[in-house]
Parts: sequence; structure tokens; C-alpha cells
Amino acid sequence: MKKRDSILIVEDDSLLRNSIKNILERREYKVGEANSVETAIQTLKKNVFDLILLDITLKDGSGMDVLRKVSNIYKNRVIIISGTGTIDIAVEAIKMGAFAFLQKPVARDVILETVKKNITLNKKLNDYQTLISELGDKSKFEDIIFKSLQMKKIIEKAIKIANLDNTILISGETGTGKELLARAIHNTSKRKNKPLITINSASIPDTLAESELFGFETGAFTDATSSFPGKFILAGNGTIFLDEISELSPLIQSKLLRVLESGEISPLKSAKTKKMNARIIAATNKDLETLVKKGLFRKDLYYRIKQLNIHIPPLRKRKTDIIPIAEHFLFISNITQSKRIERFDDEVKETFLQYSWPGNVRELKNLINEISLFVSGSEIKMKHLPSSIIIQKKSFKKKEPLSSLKEIEEKQILNVLKSTNFNIKESAKILGISRPSIYKKIKEFNIEKN
Ligand SMILES: Nc1ncnc2c1ncn2[C@@H]1O[C@H](COP(=O)(O)OP(=O)(O)O)[C@@H](O)[C@H]1O
Ligand SMILES: [Mg+2]
Repeated sequence: MKKRDSILIVEDDSLLRNSIKNILERREYKVGEANSVETAIQTLKKNVFDLILLDITLKDGSGMDVLRKVSNIYKNRVIIISGTGTIDIAVEAIKMGAFAFLQKPVARDVILETVKKNITLNKKLNDYQTLISELGDKSKFEDIIFKSLQMKKIIEKAIKIANLDNTILISGETGTGKELLARAIHNTSKRKNKPLITINSASIPDTLAESELFGFETGAFTDATSSFPGKFILAGNGTIFLDEISELSPLIQSKLLRVLESGEISPLKSAKTKKMNARIIAATNKDLETLVKKGLFRKDLYYRIKQLNIHIPPLRKRKTDIIPIAEHFLFISNITQSKRIERFDDEVKETFLQYSWPGNVRELKNLINEISLFVSGSEIKMKHLPSSIIIQKKSFKKKEPLSSLKEIEEKQILNVLKSTNFNIKESAKILGISRPSIYKKIKEFNIEKN
């Protein structure tokens, strides 16, 4: 049998308590009752509930005393129903983790709806936490949300090659999740307890790159008063994430090739070489093959690093991932911004599916984060979306045949007349023409009211 959700009602007004109890029992909830602070605390010691409905003014004290006692365990699982609704108490209750503060008299619908919302939200939260703990040590890929077959294959491949020592090349447009994947590979490999060092090839000035990566000995250059092992050595038996590898200068490219071939590093001005044990995961958002053809990237280095390669397709080419990822970020926003946004309107989903996402998952993530800040209801609607996304949708949707200026003029005049219900004065104003000219146009285009 399915477990019924259980609710404790703490209320000293027996009439009200019974009436709430009846409403809830009719909806198949299991209901417990308490009429004082004392009995509430006793009951909560013996039983676990999914939710508590809590009155503030009780005969032997304040409901806030109950809340204080249980706020840790019942975080987000207490709904206050109070007659003496001062703002101060409400604020304090919410701060202590109460889910909602309802003022008496409360309509049945409101109680039922709030209860239902609470239970659904807590279930989602629970599922998410169980999912994460189940995956736990088994896989570090749980941060990567996907539904597409393409991503499934990528993750399967990544798991297979995680424990090898060969260099991996991850390619894909910006924001597709290259770094996220690199981290997941590191965290699932035998190197997971060793460092993961990120090097952004674009951000190190060329003059510093060599010493930064491969280290230097004292006196290697004027400022070198001490020695530095370089990031490749600092990573030890860990992983180096070499981001935007196409940005490496020709000099560093050739040094890197030598390191990869020999497995050894020679710091600047040092006679001795050191063995390199770190594994390299390189990433690029440019097509290296094209760069090789143009002579902008070393061919031999390219062949060396591309043996194990993973290409992450742009988001627009794996559309089935879009909504699950959007819902995931909405879920996160709900938690971090204490919101209760439950869904995206269908038209919004459709727009998301049609949009091209040039910034890929990063763009989607930022978008959800930003719009959820301004949504106060339970749904993200079209009006919440920035115009840049909607405009693209329109131009996507209707590929109209090309038309002449006259045709467009006629259409526009008709549109405006219709929407003003043939108010000539208003239409002329909107169109920015005089009243005589609008009459002329109406005649010219043979426009009739019906
Ligand atoms: N499949 C995914 N599921 C969840 N978050 C993702 C996914 N792909 C990317 N992200 C998130 O999007 C952002 C950009 O990803 P990142 O790995 O930095 O992309 P890249 O390195 O390709 O530019 C990060 O915040 C990352 O956590
Ligand atoms: Mg990146």
C-alpha cells in the first residue's frame, strides 16, 4: 500500500482543528492532533510527520516554542496558521524555516493548496538528495544533467577512459560543459584525491607561460630569486585541465609536445629533467583541425592529443537536454532564492526549444537564474523572457514569403485598424500619418470594416 503523507495539526480551538482534520482526511492525508505546546512536543517525540500545521496562540504557550524545538528537523515542513498575525512573528517564523504563514480565518482551498505544494516540494527535494547520495561515490557525473543519447554516449565514453593516463581532448562551443566534464572525469578517476589544476592558456601572457607551466630554477631570469616547480609538477599524480589549448603560443606548443612525448619536464635554466606524472585533459572551443590546416596549430601536437577525444555538441543540437537542464536550474534557483516556481509555461518551453543558445548551457543557466529573480508566481511565462530570445523565435517560426513594401503597408494599416477597432484617429496616430492620408490608404487598398 502506498504510504500516506502525515500531518500534525497543533490547534487549541477544537472546532477549527476538527474541521481542518476533516478536510485533510478526505484528501487521504493521515492526521495527528495536538491542542497545546506540551502535547505537540510529546507527540513529535514519538512520531514523525511529513508536515506540521501550527497555531501560534495556544493555551499553555506559543506555537513559536514548538517551532523553535523542531525547526531543525522540520525545516520547510511547518505551516503557521495564526490569528495574531504580527509581521514580526511571521518574519521570525519564516527565518526559522517555516514554509508559510497563513492568517486566520483561512479558506479551505488555501490550506489544501499550501499543504499540497509543501508536500510536493519536499518530495522533490528528497528525491534529489537521495539521487545524489545514491550516485555518491559511484560516479561524479551526477552534476551533468542530460537526456539526450549523445550525452549518454559521451558520459559512457568518459567513464571508460577516466582511468587511463593518456591525454584527453574535449572540444565543443563555449558553455557546452567541457570543464564540467573534465572535472567529472578527474573526480571519478583514481586521481580523484590528487590535485586538479586548471590552466587557462588564453590568460597567461606568453612570456610567463613557460615558467608557469614547466617551472624555473633560481636565476633563470632577473626576478627569479627562488625556484618554482611549475604547474605540471605541482599537479603531482593529479590532473591538469588545459583550457583553450588553441591559444598556446607556438613556442609553448612545441615544449608541450616534447613533454608529452618524453614524459619529462625541463624547468627553465635547469640541467635536470623531472618526470611528469599528471594527466592532461585539454579543451578547445575552436576547431583544431581547421587551425592546423591554416598553420595556426602544430599538426604533430594535434595528432598527439586527439587520440582520446570527446566532442560535446552545442545545446541546440541536443534539444532533449534543454528542458531537463532548465528544470534543474529552476530547481536550484528555488532553493537558493527561496522561491516556489513550479513550472515553465508551454510556450516558454517551445521558445527554449527553438532558440539557438549561442552561449549553450552557460547561457541557459544564467537566464534561468536571472528570470527567476523577478518571478513572483508559480510559473515562468512568456512575459518573463528577454526579448532577444523571443524575437529569434518569431523569425524562426514564420518564414514568410518576401513581400513588397506596398503589401507590407497594406497589412500594417489593416492590423492597426483592426486592433483599434477602426478608430481612425487612433490608427493615424499609431501609424504616424494624418487622418486624410489614412482615408486615402483605406480607399486605395479597398479596406472595409468587415
Ligand atoms: N549538462 C549540464 N548539466 C548541468 N550543468 C551544466 C551542464 N553543462 C554545463 N553546465 C554548467 O554550465 C556552465 C558552463 O559549463 P562549462 O563546463 O564551464 O562550459 P565550457 O567549459 O564548455 O565553456 C557551468 O556552470 C556548468 O556547470
Ligand atoms: Mg570553459
